[in-house]
Amino acid sequence: MNQKVEKVVGYDVERIRQDFPVLDQQVHGKQLVYLDNAATSQKPTAVIDSLVEYYQNDNANIHRGVHTLSERATLSYENARKTVQQFLNASSEKEIVFARGATEAINLVANAFTEKLSAGDEVLITAMEHHSNIVPWQMLCEKTGAELKVAPINEQGELILEEFEKLISKNTKFAAISHMSNALGTINPIKQMIELLHQHNVPVLVDGAQAIPHISVDVQALDCEFYVFSGHKLYAPTGIGALYGKMEQLEQMAPYQGGGDMISAVTFDKTVYNKVPYKFEAGTPNIAGTIGLGAAIDYVNNIGIDAIAAHEDSLLSYATEQAKRINKLRVIGTAKNKGAILSFVLEGIHPHDIGTMMDHQGIAVRAGHHCAMPVMDFFGVPATARASFAMYNTHQEVDALMAGIENLIEMFG
Ligand code: ALA
Repeated sequence: MNQKVEKVVGYDVERIRQDFPVLDQQVHGKQLVYLDNAATSQKPTAVIDSLVEYYQNDNANIHRGVHTLSERATLSYENARKTVQQFLNASSEKEIVFARGATEAINLVANAFTEKLSAGDEVLITAMEHHSNIVPWQMLCEKTGAELKVAPINEQGELILEEFEKLISKNTKFAAISHMSNALGTINPIKQMIELLHQHNVPVLVDGAQAIPHISVDVQALDCEFYVFSGHKLYAPTGIGALYGKMEQLEQMAPYQGGGDMISAVTFDKTVYNKVPYKFEAGTPNIAGTIGLGAAIDYVNNIGIDAIAAHEDSLLSYATEQAKRINKLRVIGTAKNKGAILSFVLEGIHPHDIGTMMDHQGIAVRAGHHCAMPVMDFFGVPATARASFAMYNTHQEVDALMAGIENLIEMFG
C-alpha cells in the first residue's frame, strides 16, 4: 500500500532522504521519524556544503572590500538575492531585503508604518495568526493609537471571509495575513483577500513562513505589498529570511536599524541612507546563511515545489484517513484547503506527555501552543500535538506515527 502511494506521485522519496544525513539516526534505540518540520525542517547536504564551502574558501565581509575574497562573498550573497527574487517571481532583486527571518521582516515593516498610522486607524489581522504576526501589530497600535481588528475563524479553522470583508473599511490602513497557519495547516484564500483589501487601498503583508516550503508563490500575481518568510522552514539555515516589498513601498519606508551598509554618507549633522534594499540591511549580515538560503532554494527547485506539494498532500490525506480510525484522537484544524500539518489532541493525555512519549518511540512531534495562543483559546485546548510533514517524509512514517499514538493510548489506558 505504502509503496504504491509513493509510486502514484512518481516521487523518489528514498533518494531524497539520502540528501538529509540527519534523518539516518536512532533516537532512544528507534529509527528517527522527524515530524516537526513546521518548527524547522532538516537541511540537505547541498545546503550544509554551501556553508562549509563559504567558510573554507570565501569568508570575507561583503560590499566593503576590493580584495578577491570579499568580491566572491559579495557575488554569492547577491546571487542568493536573485535566487529569492526568482523563487517569489518579484520583478526586481532590489525588492528583496534579507532579514533574520519572518519575525524580523514583519517587525521591520511594522516599524516603518509607525509614522503612517494614527488614532482612528485600524490594522486588520486574522484569528489564526502566529504571535509574530500579532505582537508587532499590537506594538504598532500601542505606539500610534490605532486599533487592532481580528477577523474570525470557524470550527474547521477556516477564515470566515464575509466577516473579514466586513472588517475592511476606510479606517483600515494596513492588513497582515497568514498564507498558511502553522498551528492548523489552513491555507488562506490570500489572492481573494488581497483583492478585497485593495478595493479599499489597504496595503497588505502576507506571512509566508509556513507556506513557503509547500506552495509555489508568485508575488506579482498575488499583488501583495509585502511577503515575508523564514529560511529555516525551507531547508535553509536558521537566522536568515527575506522580505519582499513592492519598490514604491520600500522606497517610502524609514530604515529599521541604523549602522554600517545602510548608509551612503554620514556626518555628525546628517546621514544619507543607502538605496533599497541596502537601506534595510544594517551591519554585517548573515552572509553564510544567505548563501545557504540560495542553496536551499536551488535544491527545492531541482525537485520542484509542485512535486513536493503533491507528495506532502498525499502524506496529509493518508495521515488524516488513518487518524479517523483512532477514536480518542481529535484533529484540530480540518479546513478544506490545508497544508501538511496534523494538529491533534488525545482524550485524557496532555499534549506535552504526547510529545515526550512519542520521543521515546523515536518520533519527533511538537507539543505546545505553537506560538498561536489565540488559536488554542478558540479551540478550547491548552496545547496540541502537531505532526508536520516535509518533502522527505514517507507513508511508512505516517504508519509509525499512528502506531506510536495507539501505543500511547494503550499505555495511558
Ligand atoms: N513557528 C514555529 C512552529 O510553528 C516555531 O513551530
